[in-house]
Amino acid sequence: MAGWHALLACPHCGAELAEAGGALACASGHSFDIARQGYVNLLPGDATAGTADTREMVGARSAFLARGHFRPLDAALADAVVSAVGAAEGCVIDVGAGTGEHLAAVLERLPGRTGLALDISKHAARRAARAHPRVGAAVCDAWGTLPVRDGVAAAVMCVFAPRNAPEFARILAASGVLVVVTPTSRHLQEIAGPLGLVSVDPRKEERLETALGGHFERAATRAVEREMRLSREDVLAAALMGPSAHHLQADDVESRVASLPEPIAVTLSVSVSTWQPMPGR
Ligand SMILES: C[S@@+](CC[C@H](N)C(=O)[O-])C[C@H]1O[C@@H](n2cnc3c(N)ncnc32)[C@H](O)[C@@H]1O
Ligand SMILES: [Zn+2]
Repeated sequence: MAGWHALLACPHCGAELAEAGGALACASGHSFDIARQGYVNLLPGDATAGTADTREMVGARSAFLARGHFRPLDAALADAVVSAVGAAEGCVIDVGAGTGEHLAAVLERLPGRTGLALDISKHAARRAARAHPRVGAAVCDAWGTLPVRDGVAAAVMCVFAPRNAPEFARILAASGVLVVVTPTSRHLQEIAGPLGLVSVDPRKEERLETALGGHFERAATRAVEREMRLSREDVLAAALMGPSAHHLQADDVESRVASLPEPIAVTLSVSVSTWQPMPGR
């Protein structure tokens, strides 16, 4: 899928990138290899990737999503993007896209649209590049200047991932929308305590307003709450795919999971919010 290269900007000088001989290069000669797996690494050389999902976390996420327990989330996310995008021109960019499966679900509802998956983890980008025939994937830091041209996105999505409001506003077209998925404090509550998972800040919604306010206005919010019936294997994957995996020991989690009932009823509880760029931003 080559069209997505035209969405990108050089991380060093901001110029357009063009493909030449298996690499993307700008007119000033900054060049980035396209990996065999189809993604391009646009992280400047000195960047660190401390929060990047590891190979094991990405594997756990892929296994968990394949079980379909988050399908109601994908349906609500796709509803929000499809209804907000309307006829607006542009691609769909998923920041902190992980395996790219949410983006793939959205693109299935938007025939002909191109998707771009951005993530700081090369393991995630590798999977995302294969998530859908219309998805391209790049490695970058969502907290820095995104290697994306101004105003190319009809929609930016951010699902359980870092939110850089000024950059989201810059890459969105004037009529574009931002769709954000955040967990509520009830999300995965039945396993969070027993497994020692990082708990969700009960003031998350307030923090979201603070992070996005000044650049975006909230247009709509939808709550998605369901009971999932999870096997022990599902619970293990859910624990090892999330941010807690950065500090948990896999064998310790495994022994805790072994003492849980099976199947176990676990809450999926997220908020899907749609935001419009503030006029005159
Ligand atoms: C909790 S996962 C969510 C992944 C995906 N959105 C999903 O819901 O399946 C967070 C993702 O953000 C990525 N991430 C963390 N810090 C990042 C950063 N500074 N820039 C870009 N991506 C980042 C991680 O590598 C990981 O894939
Ligand atoms: Zn350059």
